[in-house]
Amino acid sequence: MDAREAFSGGVAVITGAGAGIGAGLARRAAHLGMTVVLADIDAAAIAALRDELCQQGAQALDICCDVRDFAAVDDLAKQVRRDVGPVRLLVNNAGVEQFGYLWDTPVANWQRVVDINVSGVFHGVRAFLPMMIDAGTPAWVWNLSSIGGVAVVPLQAPYIMSKHAVLALTECLALEVQHAGHDHIHVQAVLPGAVASNIFESAGGVTDGDVDAAESQRHAMLDIKAAAMDPLAAAEVVFDQAAEGRFYLLTQPEYVGSAMAERADVLRTQRAPALRTAPRFDPAQH
Ligand SMILES: NC(=O)c1ccc[n+]([C@@H]2O[C@H](COP(=O)([O-])OP(=O)(O)OC[C@H]3O[C@@H](n4cnc5c(N)ncnc54)[C@H](O)[C@@H]3O)[C@@H](O)[C@H]2O)c1
Repeated sequence: MDAREAFSGGVAVITGAGAGIGAGLARRAAHLGMTVVLADIDAAAIAALRDELCQQGAQALDICCDVRDFAAVDDLAKQVRRDVGPVRLLVNNAGVEQFGYLWDTPVANWQRVVDINVSGVFHGVRAFLPMMIDAGTPAWVWNLSSIGGVAVVPLQAPYIMSKHAVLALTECLALEVQHAGHDHIHVQAVLPGAVASNIFESAGGVTDGDVDAAESQRHAMLDIKAAAMDPLAAAEVVFDQAAEGRFYLLTQPEYVGSAMAERADVLRTQRAPALRTAPRFDPAQH
């Protein structure tokens, strides 16, 4: 099955659709003939994207929603069901970064990462899945993990932890839909490599302790952004892999795949974590 056959005519709900990967997925979904629901806390960003997509003849609407707030996500699900139609694709994409040593990390910044990156994904599943299961028609759930979901990186511990958590949550969810016999629900984990976005600019840092270490990690990541993949190209790859029925959706299959193989090897050989001399996220290795 190709992406147009799988997704054309369906409804896509994308959290964090106002920028970066979410906006790329929204543009691709619209291009494939989906009705796109853009959900984000950045009202201006999703309103502008809605206008752009509607001007191109697509069906799109923007709904402000903070994924940290379960009641807001539940209202989003009910509003979409009532006013738009059954959801064919739910993308739990909203996510934030955090830089600095773990012992310097402000408690509020830790909480922000957990609330958005981990609880936000659970809230999406909890609010939307029962309706998608009841609808009885083929439907897809994509959760945004990362190459960071199979790597360990210093100075980004809360983020890396959250992406490992999303990967595990998604793998367990895939087992649960099999266990419950919901064959029409396709659960898939998205593992992007470096994709151009605003994530490093909007990342938290530290206010005391080793501020320089935190900011130099932010700058190292911003340097990588210059060579990062275009979000629309990334979205095209993800939609195609999803339609093929893959579970792990990799924006850069070779690059992310080699990180997965390395992780498997570390666990197989039980090697202790060790610093690397070369940067882990080198997009030149695609
Ligand atoms: N860009 C990359 O290289 C990369 C790599 C691997 C994984 N990812 C993952 O992809 C996802 C998207 O990241 P991005 O790089 O496009 O980031 P981005 O910062 O460009 O976009 C994130 C969007 O999420 C929105 N958002 C933030 N908090 C929210 C909340 N509480 N509720 C609703 N929306 C909220 C922001 O307003 C923004 O529009 C994240 O989960 C991220 O971890 C990104």
